Amino acid sequence: MKTMNVGLLGIGTVGAGTFTVLSRNAEEISRRAGRPIRIVVVAEKDVVRANEITQGVCRVVDDAFAVVSDPEVEIVIELIGGCGVAKELVLKAIANGKHVVTANKALLAMHGNEIFAEAQKMGVTVAFEAAVAGGVPIVKAVREGLSANRIEWIAGIINGTTNFILSEMRDKGLSFDTVLKEAQRLGYAEADPTFDIEGVDAAHKITLLSAIAFGIPVKFDKAYIEGISQLNAKDIKYAEQLGYRIKLLGITKRTAAGVELRVHPTLIPAKRLIANVEGAMNAIVVQGDAVGPTLYYGKGAGAEPTASAVIADLVDVTRLHTAEPEQSVPHLAFQPDQLIDLPILPIDEVMTCHYMRLRVQDEPGVLADITRALANEKISIDALIQIEPSEGEDEADLILLTHLTLEKHAIAAIAKLEKLTVVVGKVTRIRMETLGK
Ligand code: HSE
Repeated sequence: MKTMNVGLLGIGTVGAGTFTVLSRNAEEISRRAGRPIRIVVVAEKDVVRANEITQGVCRVVDDAFAVVSDPEVEIVIELIGGCGVAKELVLKAIANGKHVVTANKALLAMHGNEIFAEAQKMGVTVAFEAAVAGGVPIVKAVREGLSANRIEWIAGIINGTTNFILSEMRDKGLSFDTVLKEAQRLGYAEADPTFDIEGVDAAHKITLLSAIAFGIPVKFDKAYIEGISQLNAKDIKYAEQLGYRIKLLGITKRTAAGVELRVHPTLIPAKRLIANVEGAMNAIVVQGDAVGPTLYYGKGAGAEPTASAVIADLVDVTRLHTAEPEQSVPHLAFQPDQLIDLPILPIDEVMTCHYMRLRVQDEPGVLADITRALANEKISIDALIQIEPSEGEDEADLILLTHLTLEKHAIAAIAKLEKLTVVVGKVTRIRMETLGK
């Protein structure tokens, strides 16, 4: 049986993992794909390292453009990352009639519409399982396994770095800054952790999931993004006392008015399975109208977990290689002429419950002032507790949970609360989701 020849762009952590797993499981993979799959050329700036990993079993070059134009190569694996040269290479590979497998979430979240359109034109596939939640086969599940369903919402812990930090903050009662430093020391967080801690990486991933869930173009520029760098350990503790955990969630939801697409710290009931996903693990809940909630859990990063997703795509592409392009699975799950340009709702129009923490003077009439300010914005209080002040303190923390409220009403209420003389400093607000039906 003719071997499927692959060109690999970038042999860093995931590239090396892909090389290793593809060699180790070659026989099993070939039995699944129907023919052997072999990396015939690797492009890598660090040629010495690439030669050490590949041990002479394939060619090593330092020019990635040579690989995307190599007549021997039928599938290009792009593991360079970013939106610069990676975009050029992917487009060039497509133009040369090659299938592409990529783990590049930023590239697809920002330029996916253009890339998928070019691939469609050329009758090739751009597969991206590894771009969302590493080794968890969530793209396959949403795009194919759940294709009978009208998907209602997806909520996921899709960034391991931030989940590790939040788990440590909760477990050890430490501050964000302390845990971030520890995470960097252990190699869980990058030297520049901005994309992870500010929610950008999760937003790339939920943008892709939103597109394949609802059959809409990718719209990263419309995503609302808030990370965890401002999160206070106090709120994690209070949330715990109220029966909630705080997680950085990527959420996308279909509503009558449009699609919600957002990433932010979120209180979720501690009894939900996803609330108990700890450390660097990823988990995603998908709510379909027929199946109900389904949960997907696993490693969202790392050499072999991500290689697992890359190779699954290689197998898929190999199986469908000889099929007519119209028989292949559409990039965004829905047929390209069936994508609907639903509006992404601005965050002001999003409805959630809210957790609010106020520092208040401990004196008569305070609660009356606060509940009046909320009532004036039509906000209904679900629960309210005052934490007993420590000995000698004349200020107390007041925690309130609201019923479902429009974001803009919550913002207006917070502005009014902060003007009250009995409220000291800023109000801390964290959105809440029940993740129920
Ligand atoms: N930096 C990501 C994470 C992994 O922390 O989950 C790659 O997307």
